[in-house]
Amino acid sequence: MDVSLLPLSKFNGNELESHLEYLRKTRNSSKQFMTRSQDNITPEMQKNWYKNLEDNFIPYVFIGSEHGVIFYPIGYGTILIENNSAFLTGVIDESVRGKGFGKKLFSSLIDESKKMCNSTLLEVLTTNQVAQSLYKSLGFAEVSKTDKVITMELS
Ligand SMILES: CC(C)(COP(=O)(O)OP(=O)(O)OC[C@H]1O[C@@H](n2cnc3c(N)ncnc32)[C@H](O)[C@@H]1OP(=O)(O)O)[C@@H](O)C(=O)NCCC(=O)NCCS
Repeated sequence: MDVSLLPLSKFNGNELESHLEYLRKTRNSSKQFMTRSQDNITPEMQKNWYKNLEDNFIPYVFIGSEHGVIFYPIGYGTILIENNSAFLTGVIDESVRGKGFGKKLFSSLIDESKKMCNSTLLEVLTTNQVAQSLYKSLGFAEVSKTDKVITMELS
């Protein structure tokens, strides 16, 4: 399967609506891994969120293609820019985890973030061992830690 990271701003009409709904469902099904808010997102909240999106928050869909024809999302990622630093997050569909797509997703997010910012960071729950090993393997190292959340920076 080929994969590519595409900003939601590339889409409109029905395609945009379907990707927004994909993002909402995928994020809700992984809300227990989120560091900032674990609230459930309703379709209404999602619409308002996208309508009021600020320039410093960029959502992406991670699209898989097979035989060069069928395109469908297998994950999503976001970049939040604060004080010239990029904060990354991302989720891969549960059905295709452990096959190397997470590494590809975060490598693509890193490439994007480097075009926009001097430093690349992310937050991860202290309990999320899988994501921590992924981030370490990509070159992130811990810069601070609370009871629940580790902040890591790409060195
Ligand atoms: C974290 C996540 C994106 C990783 O995606 P993935 O496609 O499963 O990961 P990959 O197959 O690309 O594996 C990448 C690395 O993750 C780690 N990893 C993956 N599965 C693992 C497992 N079951 N146990 C331990 N480490 C694991 C390994 O370090 C692996 O590198 P390696 O194969 O070189 O050893 C995915 O599990 C996910 O979406 N989890 C839920 C949401 C989440 O936690 N997002 C991060 C929020 S901060």
